[in-house]
Amino acid sequence: MLATDIDSATASAAAAGGAEKRAYVKRIFSEIAPRYDLLNHVLSLNIDRRWRRKAIARLEVERDQAGRYLDLCAGTMDVAVEISRLPGFRGLVVGADFAEPMLKAGAGKISGSGITPVTADAVQLPIASGQLAGAIVAFGIRNVAGLDEALREALRILVPGGRFVVLEFSTPRIRILRALYRLYFHHVLPLIGRLISGHRTAYQYLPRSVANFPVEEELARRMEAAGFAKVTWTSLSFGVAAIHVAERPMPGRK
Ligand SMILES: C[S@@+](CC[C@H](N)C(=O)[O-])C[C@H]1O[C@@H](n2cnc3c(N)ncnc32)[C@H](O)[C@@H]1O
Repeated sequence: MLATDIDSATASAAAAGGAEKRAYVKRIFSEIAPRYDLLNHVLSLNIDRRWRRKAIARLEVERDQAGRYLDLCAGTMDVAVEISRLPGFRGLVVGADFAEPMLKAGAGKISGSGITPVTADAVQLPIASGQLAGAIVAFGIRNVAGLDEALREALRILVPGGRFVVLEFSTPRIRILRALYRLYFHHVLPLIGRLISGHRTAYQYLPRSVANFPVEEELARRMEAAGFAKVTWTSLSFGVAAIHVAERPMPGRK
């Protein structure tokens, strides 16, 4: 096998949730960190910003504007920054990610913002139980090795009634759109991603990881199984992405 084949095979195995997923994901995000923001906006034609704002609105921070919130798998902390700029917000935001170069790449955005970057794995957060008013993860949860553990960990850190919002890619269900989407995601995106990032396999991993991620109903079911209540989801842009919203149940209720 050539070295290129080995890396491509690792990308496939990692996207399918193999044992190498954690190390592979950490490595690729650390490697693409300096170009991540640029690529995000170019590859999504800037729609990612609109999707993040919609997801943040579902967090309903107006319910507790002085509360503490978590931007999970924060990357370069775009979500944390948006939350900290919401009108009337006077709380704190923790941006947690296990790839330190991603947090460092976003460090310039957070000065004087009340955002605390923390290097941590989503399956084992250094946060006491029942502390946070809300948590949100944007385009991160499908990358976590151990989805169910991460969901239980998100539940653990929330106050009863605290919200958890998940923004994640999905696959359109309308056949013609799905065909166009696959053409773009599996052929155009890896090419542009490789040209701009200089990374050979990172942008092959992305479409494969989306294809292997649970569909909306299945993710909602896994959130309920983790202990969340009031789980709902909404499709964005004809099913290219979805927002799931859930709450930690109040004691004695389900
Ligand atoms: C596609 S980026 C999303 C970054 C950011 N949330 C955004 O909206 O642009 C996915 C991020 O998830 C992080 N990640 C993946 N698995 C993780 C884990 N188990 N624990 C913490 N962070 C993780 C990666 O390091 C990466 O920064």
